[in-house]
Amino acid sequence: MNFTNMDIISMKDFSRDMIDHILNVAEELEPVARGEKRSNIFSNVLLSLLFFEPSTRTRMSFESAIIRGGGNVLNLGSLEASSISKGETLADTIRVVEGYADAIVLRHPKEGAARMAAEYSSVPIINAGDGAGQHPTQTLLDLYTIKRESVLDGVKIAIAGDLKYGRTAHSLCYALSLYGAEINLVSPDSLQMPEEIVNDLRGQNINVYQTSVMEEVIEDIDVLYATRIQKERFPDVTEYEKVAASLKITPGLLDKAKIDLKVMHPLPRVNEIDASIDNTNHACYFKQSFYGVPVRMALLSLVMGRLK
Ligand code: CP
Repeated sequence: MNFTNMDIISMKDFSRDMIDHILNVAEELEPVARGEKRSNIFSNVLLSLLFFEPSTRTRMSFESAIIRGGGNVLNLGSLEASSISKGETLADTIRVVEGYADAIVLRHPKEGAARMAAEYSSVPIINAGDGAGQHPTQTLLDLYTIKRESVLDGVKIAIAGDLKYGRTAHSLCYALSLYGAEINLVSPDSLQMPEEIVNDLRGQNINVYQTSVMEEVIEDIDVLYATRIQKERFPDVTEYEKVAASLKITPGLLDKAKIDLKVMHPLPRVNEIDASIDNTNHACYFKQSFYGVPVRMALLSLVMGRLK
């Protein structure tokens, strides 16, 4: 298996063996990610971060991963302070930045932007989210979280929220299909998972159940993966409020769940999870955001050819 110089664009580009290898390397690197063990795995590595949309976790966990491994980052910073504000194209920006760094992490509002950037770049492009497309490094850390905190093979999962535009949900579904997951998709009718993805999953003999009612599935699942319902997409705010209330994860809802149910969320959350759940054994979302560090460290070490 050779990841050296691979562009990381879509979960569809990964086999189960490839994912398993990344997750195993992440486990080995966890002490480095926690700052418990020193490493120079990224000595002389310069990673460029181009974020055309806001980010806390993805940007900072890439920074943490590279710095803890002895490398450096080159951050474009705010778009206003860059020449993108003068109208420079993404293609030109990529052709310039490839000369400054060994790999480029790109978040962009347009679906397909990372794939396009990879055509212009001689250094690896890592997709950190392309519009409503994919967010593959989030998916890798989601899988790592499920593996560490629950059971990945054959997991019974509910993915809830805005499944139409939620790129983390799209990437996760494709990856879970490699692990024989039973997938329950919980969303308002207007924000259902795109039909193309549901058909792809069913084509791989994955059990997919669609509902708008969380109570229908809560008793049976191992993992509840919540995502933000995007208020801005509802023409009528009262419709949003009805849906948001029906999908909110509350202590009352979790009373009906398995005792070892894990609640995940890619974050940021708004109102999806009641804060009183944060201190229960169900809450997994802050561990999940930490796991972004060892997983991105593993991925970078493989792509930079520092580990095999
Ligand atoms: N989960 C995630 O992508 O978070 P950020 O938008 O903060 O990077």
